This record gives sequence, C-alpha cells and structure tokens, in this order.
Amino acid sequence: MEQQQTPSAVEQAMLAEFERRIAAGETVEPKDWMPERYRKQLVRMMSQHAHSEVVGMLPEGNWITRAPSLRRKLGLLAKVQDEAGHGLYIYCGTETLGVGRDELLDQLLSGKAKYSSIFNYPTLTWADIGAIGWLVDGAAIVNQTMLAKASYGPYARAMVRICKEENFHKKQGFEIMTVLAGGTPAQKAMAQDALDRWWWPSLMMFGPSDKDSPNSAELTKWGVKRKGNDELRQRFVNQTVAQAQAIGLTIPDPELTLDEATGDWKFGQIDWDEFHRVISGDGPCNRERLAARRKAHDDGAWVRAAAEAHAAKQDGQGGAARVA
Ligand SMILES: [Fe+2]
Ligand SMILES: [Fe+2]
Repeated sequence: MEQQQTPSAVEQAMLAEFERRIAAGETVEPKDWMPERYRKQLVRMMSQHAHSEVVGMLPEGNWITRAPSLRRKLGLLAKVQDEAGHGLYIYCGTETLGVGRDELLDQLLSGKAKYSSIFNYPTLTWADIGAIGWLVDGAAIVNQTMLAKASYGPYARAMVRICKEENFHKKQGFEIMTVLAGGTPAQKAMAQDALDRWWWPSLMMFGPSDKDSPNSAELTKWGVKRKGNDELRQRFVNQTVAQAQAIGLTIPDPELTLDEATGDWKFGQIDWDEFHRVISGDGPCNRERLAARRKAHDDGAWVRAAAEAHAAKQDGQGGAARVA
C-alpha cells in the first residue's frame, strides 16, 4: 500500500513546487521537471504556432512575382523568409520538449495538425499583402508580446526575437495600405476591399471567447498565457481603429462604437460558425494550402537525401581524421 502511495505523494510535492515557481514568476527550462499535461499543452500550442508561420508564407508568396516595384518585392521576400525562420525557431522549441520537427511536419502534411485559420483565406489583390502585414502581423504581435512573457523559457525567448521582426512586417503592411488609401480612387477602393475581407478573420485569430476556449484556464494557471483572448482582441481593435481612421479607411462593422467610459471600441458579433468551419478544414483555401505544403515536401526529398548523404560522408571523414 505504502509503495503505491509514495510516488503520488512525491509527484504532488513536485507539482506544488512547480506551481510555486510559476507563481513566483520563475521560468521553466527544458531540463526542469514539469507536469506531463503542461508539456503536452505547450507542444500543442507551439506546433500550431510553428505551422501557422510556415503555412502563412503561402498566401504572401503568391504575390512575390507580382509585387508592383522592386522595393516592394524586396520587402515581401524578406518578410516571407522571416516567417520561415519563425517556424524554425518554434520547431526547435518543441524539440526541447521531446517532439521533433519531422513528427510535427508529418502531422501537418497528414492534415491532423491545426494552424491559424487566417491563412486559409485567399490573397486576391496586391492590397491583401498590405492588409495581411497591417492586420494579421498586427494581431500576431499583440498575441506574441504576451507570449514573450510565457513561463516556458525557450518559447518566451523565441517570441522576443520574433516580435521584433513582426514589427517590421506590420510597418511594411501599413505603409502599403497608407500609399494605396492615399492613391487613386481605384487604389483606395482596393485597399478598402482588402480591409473588408481581412478584418473579421483577423479578429478570429485571437481564438474563441475565453468562456468558450477549452484550454484557456489551464494555460493561464500555468503562466503560458498571461492575458485572455478577449482582452487581447480588444487591445488589437482599439489600436487598429485609430490606424484605419488615420488613413481614411472604414472598419467594416456598423456596430463599432466607442465606449467613452473605458476607451474601448465595442465591436459587432464575430461569426464563430465561419471560424469553426475554416478551422475544421472547410475554408476557401484549406485544400490548396495543404497541397502546396505536400508538394514542397515531396519536391524537397532530394535535398534531404543529399544533406543526409553529405553528413554521413563528413562523419566518415571525421572518424578517419580522429583515428589518424
Ligand atoms: Fe511570423
Ligand atoms: Fe510576420
């Protein structure tokens, strides 16, 4: 009897110590003891995040060859390349939790893994590239600034660097929108149309309301999330309404009103049916995105094989050199 109870008592003490450290604002590092549930939640969240960075390259990559000037092309190329880097930092972070990139990529390519629903919408015009930088990267910054204070060290540190780069992305997107909104009537209409299509999906990026979000309470308790989805969404709306006004564009929400008492812009109902439809695979571009990722993976098979052959050859030479 006593032997069965001892491990549980030890584990309870470890859990209490873990929660004391979190409450004291200490960072959890890869070799520290952590509850299995904490590890699993982090892997789930970080893999969704990493996949979003990588799939997020696709709607924008669509416009690299059609950017309207060399300066715009350079900016977009650099941004898309940054997103690949963001994916890699975060995949490296999941490796510290014992889950490798190969395994996560298999889950993505098989359709099992989730990624942000926003990347299943199409980029129809050049203004969409402006709207993505301004709104999608803007929303990502609000979320990721909070995650830079997450309790898991490798994730938090990756976020610090990523946020710096996301700021450039947001600025280049807002600059594109500013130029279009101040251009010809046709250019302004194109910018407004992009805002109309990207506004609501951007608000969905923060996820369901906290009361409907199954993981929120646990992630908050363990210091992975420091703010709720609704609070972050409100912060994003407040800052973005002012920016839209500054460049003469209209947020597509007739219910948008300023609450003088709190300073918050109150917004209309988000279409959560649409959100769930897109998340579960039935958005405008879900199939196209996965097909593009699978093709890229298959096309890259020879690169992986060559890299492995090269590494094996280097190992062989290294071994011989050591013997010599
Ligand atoms: Fe990113
Ligand atoms: Fe970005």
